[in-house]
Amino acid sequence: MTTIDRRRFLQTLAAGSVLLAGHKPVFPAGVAHAMAPAEATPGFNPDVELELNAAPGEIRVLPGNATRLWRFTGRVLRGDPRSLSFLDGSGHIPVIRARRGQKLRIHFTNQLPEDSIVHWHGLHIVQRADGHPMYAVGTGKKYVYEFVVDNRAGTHWFHPHPHERTGLQVYFGLAGLFLVGDDEEDAARLPRDELDLPLVIQDRTFNAANQLVYLAPGMMDRMMGFQGDRVLVNGAAGYTRAMERTAYRLRVLNASNSTLYSLRWSNGRPLTLIGTDGGLLERPLTRASLTLGIGERADVWVDFAGGQPGDEVAIVADSWSPMLENITGLQTGAAPVPGGRPIARFRIANGAARKSTLPQRLSSFPALRIGDAVNRDRPRTIQLSMQRGQAMLNGRTFGRMDEVADDEKVKLGTTEVWEFANDASFGMRMAHPMHVHNLQFRVVERSGPGHAISAGFTDEGLKDVALVLPGQRVRVLMKFEDYTGIYLYHCHILEHEDLGMMRNYRVDPA
Ligand code: C2O
Ligand code: CU
Ligand code: CU
Repeated sequence: MTTIDRRRFLQTLAAGSVLLAGHKPVFPAGVAHAMAPAEATPGFNPDVELELNAAPGEIRVLPGNATRLWRFTGRVLRGDPRSLSFLDGSGHIPVIRARRGQKLRIHFTNQLPEDSIVHWHGLHIVQRADGHPMYAVGTGKKYVYEFVVDNRAGTHWFHPHPHERTGLQVYFGLAGLFLVGDDEEDAARLPRDELDLPLVIQDRTFNAANQLVYLAPGMMDRMMGFQGDRVLVNGAAGYTRAMERTAYRLRVLNASNSTLYSLRWSNGRPLTLIGTDGGLLERPLTRASLTLGIGERADVWVDFAGGQPGDEVAIVADSWSPMLENITGLQTGAAPVPGGRPIARFRIANGAARKSTLPQRLSSFPALRIGDAVNRDRPRTIQLSMQRGQAMLNGRTFGRMDEVADDEKVKLGTTEVWEFANDASFGMRMAHPMHVHNLQFRVVERSGPGHAISAGFTDEGLKDVALVLPGQRVRVLMKFEDYTGIYLYHCHILEHEDLGMMRNYRVDPA
């Protein structure tokens, strides 16, 4: 047993005995349901210990009535007080900051009127801490996460992951960032602290009383994916911020339920991409536009030193439904505006310009080589399909909590090629952003027809989401390391995930 396995084993024993008394089943009979650790493990000494609650609340987003939502609250119990903060904007989006190698303990309490559990999207993590729906806890219950932060520096995020309720819980306000730092990133001397600005993009629809509107009854919204008619950034409508005359690092996350975004600068400058889902690129790249599928991140470097005080520069977004229809313009009910709409406005503040240089060498990656794949010439193909009200992977939907088919088992320590095939020869033709838990992969091949948004794809670097357009096949290379157990792979259109376009895969001992 490795140390981590042994600790997990001990943790399972400890948690099981605490929980047996008084735990009511939260899943229907016949569904496997794991025990939730309700208490901390005595031998685990965290560097950072946090309390994180999901609870009903309200915030002011639009003029007039406050909007009722579900939100994370929390505090730092041990470690650096900056380990937990809340974004500018509406103030309800949390940011957890950790360093590679740190041990974290997070006490999650579910104060929602339904089951929930938190998943750390992008983290390479022991199964018990991954937030699989099998670990969902009921109202008033607690789940204790204990894990070592084992990712290179990067922009990750977290959101609830209960069975069939992920879309609703994220939509009603539950999503946060999980930023990992490390020495390699420090050495790149990128803008930091207040010059390191996350931008979380989410679209929402409000009714006349400023309350959130989600799915209409029936299947249509679920199949198409839900698109809100206003684009919020960091929870704010009409996000505006004063920027100093210097360089910034913008960490952009598309945390919408189903909308694909194509982003560009209002002044026509190219975007400088320095990182993707799994952290920094080796060197910066430029793009006229950046496409972000759901769950994807883009790390962007921008220098405002050349701007004059009072100038305004905006990030302009074209929004696309997964059907690849342009939905820019929905906000006003008007016809689509060619060229998109500004979603975040930056006004250059007074003060002297400060010079900064973008390093040409940002990082180096763990080597993932196609030659190391055990199935290099016979990738595991996963057919994506939508038909008769079902969203499926290889013709299957999510079944029992621990169900794993024979073709979903992999061996610890191996490298494999998986191919997401959106052949869409029958059923609905839609784009599907495919996500794999517990690892970062490399996109090694993308074939099939492109689209206007293809020019902005960020297939570079390490990724955990790959947007697969209709008719495309995308091959990804990944290595199953360190942890055995059950993890998920799924479409990150949250309505598709909730419809069951999600499956387990299992990493078995070598
Ligand atoms: Cu954002 Cu199952 O993940
Ligand atoms: Cu995930
Ligand atoms: Cu999908």
